[in-house]
Amino acid sequence: MRILVLGSGAREHAIVKALLAEEAGHEITAVPGNAGIAAEVETVRFDASNPVLVADYAKEYGAELVVIGPEAPLIAGVADRVRMLGIPVFGPSKDAAQLEGSKAFAKRVMAEAQVPTGQATRAASLDELETALDVFGAPYVVKADGLAAGKGVIVTSDRDAAVDHARFYLQQGQVLVEEHLRGREVSLFLLSDGHDVLPLSPAQDYKRAFDGDEGPNTGGMGAYSPLPWLQPQWETEADFVDEVIDTVARPVIRLLEAEGTPFVGLLYCGLMITDAGIRVIEFNARFGDPETQVVLARLETPLSELMLAAATGGLARLPYPRFRPDAAVSTVLASAGYPENPVAGRQLIGLDRVRDVIVDHAATALVEDRWIVSGGRVLSVVGVAPTFTAAREKVYAALGELELEGSFYRRDIAAAVAASERAASEDAGSESAGSESVESESAESESADQGGGGPA
Ligand code: AMP
Ligand code: GLY
Repeated sequence: MRILVLGSGAREHAIVKALLAEEAGHEITAVPGNAGIAAEVETVRFDASNPVLVADYAKEYGAELVVIGPEAPLIAGVADRVRMLGIPVFGPSKDAAQLEGSKAFAKRVMAEAQVPTGQATRAASLDELETALDVFGAPYVVKADGLAAGKGVIVTSDRDAAVDHARFYLQQGQVLVEEHLRGREVSLFLLSDGHDVLPLSPAQDYKRAFDGDEGPNTGGMGAYSPLPWLQPQWETEADFVDEVIDTVARPVIRLLEAEGTPFVGLLYCGLMITDAGIRVIEFNARFGDPETQVVLARLETPLSELMLAAATGGLARLPYPRFRPDAAVSTVLASAGYPENPVAGRQLIGLDRVRDVIVDHAATALVEDRWIVSGGRVLSVVGVAPTFTAAREKVYAALGELELEGSFYRRDIAAAVAASERAASEDAGSESAGSESVESESAESESADQGGGGPA
């Protein structure tokens, strides 16, 4: 198949690798891609968010499938323009992508589809905002309505900080004040053909910059999959996934279909598992980064078949995608100063020494034969192994080989889940072993006082 992949991050590198791993002879081109992607497939540099440029190129290229990685092209209407040419597109229309592009739109859809989410009120002025803050109480959750590159959300007990955040975003439109949800976060990706959905395997993301969930929010510093701690609350992963499909994904997809804005592509459900049950924190209209790197590393079903079926209304015919039972862990190598002021232009040394992991590039450039870093999240290192302990060892051994002045990465990705796994195997035979240390992993989502967001 001739496949055009839009985007330039580690997520898109992981998508390209999954397509190549099928060994199906696909011809793949990435726009604009990155240096890591360019080492594997053809890349063409132009603005992937320009609907006319993309549609013209897709036609000229003879694309049989266009895969849209990031949200910007979706919000810009790239999928609509390409679909008008009759080319299958994995990625929702501009209207359906409002599920990610507008928090108010997402809240309205959830209310009408009776999907469980935090209570929220809209505020259009500081007066309305202050009233809402008093109604909900601390910790306060204030969200900008539109896309804000991950910076639109603040979770804080500091009322003045909440008001300041709102004051800034009120200049651009309404803000949402939301009930604070307490629990553990899960990212669940579902393929949608506009009517039916198929689930991928759940993952956990680490949003804060530093170990122990300290520091500013980022686009994501690491992830792991699967999530053994879903048990025993759900007997199997499929039970959890089916509950999300029944209570969240299918109702939303059917409502959008009924409204004439079918959602075709990847529905990213950002969920909080609270004591009262599953609640939606947010939807995204595309794969998450860095969760995709771990989820696709475990996928056994050919990705192109899933995406093409989604793009052409054929998901009902397919069984659930298969995943290898192995543990996958990804850790992001970040440039000095990320997320506020990432330093670019420094040389990355040691890639040739890295063994036994997948390296998904994000912000690298090949200048002559030197790898030069061009942004904040430089690359993801992904380890896959029968246990989380072994997967982590691979990841951290590989990161130990890399030299980049001032760079950093989190050392605690999947640490708690690996510790639980070791405790369970030492204590094999004892029924409760698998769930004992579940709570320790949840510092990120349990913390009541989080700062503002960071760049995605
Ligand atoms: P979002 O951009 O909506 O994903 O929000 C960014 C992060 O803020 C989420 O991943 C959560 O960690 C946190 N967050 C968002 N909404 C809530 C909420 N209602 N309660 C608690 N934490 C939240
Ligand atoms: N990792 C969070 C996101 O992709 O939005």
